[in-house]
Amino acid sequence: AMPEKRPFERLPADVSPLNYGLCLKPDLIDFTFEGKLEAAVQVKNATNQIVMNCADIDIITASYAPEGDEEVHATGFNYQNEDEKVTLSFPSTLQKGTGTLKIDFVGELNDKMKGFYRSKYSTPSGDTRYAAVTQFEATDARRAFPCWDEPAIKATFDISLVVPKDRVALSNMNVLERRPYPDDESLVEVKFARSPVMSTYLVAFVVGEYDFVEARSQDGVLVRVYTPVGKAEQGRFALEVAAKTLPFYKDYFNVPYPLPKIDLIAIADFAAGAMENWGLVTYRETALLIDPKNSCSSSRQWVALVVGHELAHQWFGNLVTMEWWTHLWLNEGFASWIEYLCVDHCFPEYDIWTQFVSADYTRAQELDALDNSHPIEVSVGHPSEVDEIFDAISYSKGASVIRMLHDYIGDEDFRKGMNLYLTKFQQRNAATEDLWESLEKASGKPIAAVMNTWTKQMGFPLIYVEAEQQEDDKVLKLVQKKFCASGPYTGEDFPMWMVPISICTSEDPSSAKMQILMDKPELTVVLKDTKPEQWVKLNLGTVGFYRTQYSPAMLESLIPAIQDLSLPPVDRLGLQNDLFSLARAGIISTVEVLKVMEAFVNEPNYTVWSDLSCNLGILATLLSHTDFHEDIQVFIRDVFSPIGERLGWDPKPGEGHLDALLRGLVLGKLGKAGHKATLEEARRRFKEHVEGKHILSADLRSPVYVTVLKHGDSSTLDTMLKLHKQADMQEEKNRIERVLGAISQPELIQKVLTFALSEEVRPQDTVSVIGGVAGGSKQGRKAAWKFVRDNWEELYNRYQGGFLISRLIKLTVDGFANDKMAAEVKAFFESHPAPSAER
Ligand code: BES
Ligand code: ZN
Repeated sequence: AMPEKRPFERLPADVSPLNYGLCLKPDLIDFTFEGKLEAAVQVKNATNQIVMNCADIDIITASYAPEGDEEVHATGFNYQNEDEKVTLSFPSTLQKGTGTLKIDFVGELNDKMKGFYRSKYSTPSGDTRYAAVTQFEATDARRAFPCWDEPAIKATFDISLVVPKDRVALSNMNVLERRPYPDDESLVEVKFARSPVMSTYLVAFVVGEYDFVEARSQDGVLVRVYTPVGKAEQGRFALEVAAKTLPFYKDYFNVPYPLPKIDLIAIADFAAGAMENWGLVTYRETALLIDPKNSCSSSRQWVALVVGHELAHQWFGNLVTMEWWTHLWLNEGFASWIEYLCVDHCFPEYDIWTQFVSADYTRAQELDALDNSHPIEVSVGHPSEVDEIFDAISYSKGASVIRMLHDYIGDEDFRKGMNLYLTKFQQRNAATEDLWESLEKASGKPIAAVMNTWTKQMGFPLIYVEAEQQEDDKVLKLVQKKFCASGPYTGEDFPMWMVPISICTSEDPSSAKMQILMDKPELTVVLKDTKPEQWVKLNLGTVGFYRTQYSPAMLESLIPAIQDLSLPPVDRLGLQNDLFSLARAGIISTVEVLKVMEAFVNEPNYTVWSDLSCNLGILATLLSHTDFHEDIQVFIRDVFSPIGERLGWDPKPGEGHLDALLRGLVLGKLGKAGHKATLEEARRRFKEHVEGKHILSADLRSPVYVTVLKHGDSSTLDTMLKLHKQADMQEEKNRIERVLGAISQPELIQKVLTFALSEEVRPQDTVSVIGGVAGGSKQGRKAAWKFVRDNWEELYNRYQGGFLISRLIKLTVDGFANDKMAAEVKAFFESHPAPSAER
């Protein structure tokens, strides 16, 4: 059921800010703050009211002084709570011109991880303390100070913070001065330099105890990574990535980073993964901190990606900002694409673009093939609608269509277009069409026409292809139709996409023999000089956002190219993923697909295995409701044991990042599926780990933990909970939290669920514990869903709506395979509305 659209109006344009002079004084004991705003504003139309955004803040006094004239006090503060606005009424008309608006106010340092909030941490000696931190995107700056909280209303900021002398105080800009605070000698006032014009959602401040490491990037920017006290060295990895990334983007965009410094800081309680506040990027601890001994390879990769993502926003988002939240996808989709470009530059050995396909591209196709998907570009109004568009369609489909666009344009013209866009709109706002226009100018290609078919309608095409030999040529017939997860498309209208299609043959599997733009439902193309024995493949590099269905003969001819690895990894991955997905939609038979799987016996590539394993996992989940449950476990053991034997347990000389990832994947898979030798070895190593005889290497921990838990009892669970308690790093705590759901016995599942809501688990991580239970087993899924229903109020209150709720829902209801469960889910949300979980 679609919710009724809440009435919504943007702020009136009569009065707008030029500069915010803002002083905040947080109280880290009482969890309140005092604020003073002195804003230079411009009255564009004479009025006796000023309407601003304001939420959970009490205004004490407000006045307006026209430049060179007497100040007038506001006589009424009319809060429109639903709209998160306040109207200040003045006894006389404010005339056109500039002036100063002063507002004194107080607020609460809340514990909801939004606005100006408190975050709990322990000191090295074990005391509990609180830091004051901010998270303003999308619409929560208004919880810290009254403001014009819309991305298009930009102004400069002069921020100062009054804080205890012994605390670190940070904001977007560098510190100008620290001076004693007149009324209290335990405090100091820290004044920060004036910012460039910027949107309110990018403002940030942090007050707490931190250590840091620093470096100067080659282009002269001071980079610091702030960590919990005593853990500065854990910031080293992110520091190196950041110092390499800034010059990379500067060069790529040909626009310098505009601020003198950038800080990256790890925040203990943090709802998102990270946030791109200009000059002060905030992160979850697990998205920033790396310990050389205790961090696994996938954490390193994650940190690199997140740093690459948030730093890209410093240009794309911060310097040029979306005009309205409707264009949020562009911000997030672009950053989610270029983070891979950046990591590929810093760590070519990660083969990160192949991982993009299995992480973002296939995930986006998975969701976008459902009837309840939505177009990338959706119009949004009320703040409660903004949270729900921070989803995989904006991020992963957004990134995927930008990758396709980049490939269609070519890197050189793409960069030209980016530079055009960033220089034309710098310090200002832009909409999706503005980027298309710049790219069109740079490339001479019909960018807007092509891209509108991908961003303004939901879904994507399935391209059916068959080939006919005509002497030395092959004639290909292509047909496009919307792809639906539920089966062949039967809709009345015929949605169409403009699809850039590349075609290669066995002659050269890694370069396109032909490139075309398919702009109609059917197309015939002639591949000259293509012998009968040559195979033909579409979608080189798995870049086009479509699925391909080959005629049986064409598919047959591709199988040897999988087996002998002449088809590149990313193409093997794409082909395999299309087949599974077509089978799930009932378009081809599952038996056929499992036969093709046999061609993967020699597969050496981590990412291909990872995607394969994911697809087999989905199959196993579906079959867990049937009699084939045991057969699929046997099949999984047979598929993974040869590679498992080849890899062994311990790294061999000369191995790298991807070998470590592959080993973890395969051992975990074998262990879960009950492969005897793996289970025994996992138990042995776990015992030695717990006894402190031989600590497991970080890369082996997840697979070992998951294996012993899956086949463990209450004492295994207790041991894991003890390890959790002892863990000093949040990464280790999270690692354990995510695998707890592997436990099988119903009463232990309950224990894990209760643990999820306990003090031991950080509020942002509760979601992944419950999600782990839901993904762990059939019983787990039911139990998790019941637990969410039974604890709905507490969970909802914890996240105040917000996007964590939608992630939770998605994780818990994802694997339900039958109509009865679907109806139950539907009924629950009819009586418990959750706007951010609508989709
Ligand atoms: N701008 C977002 C953070 C954000 C997300 C704010 C949702 C408000 C609501 C940030 O740039 C981001 O995208 N963070 C990601 C991590 C990233 C590496 C994909 C996140 O938090 O998941
Ligand atoms: Zn982002």
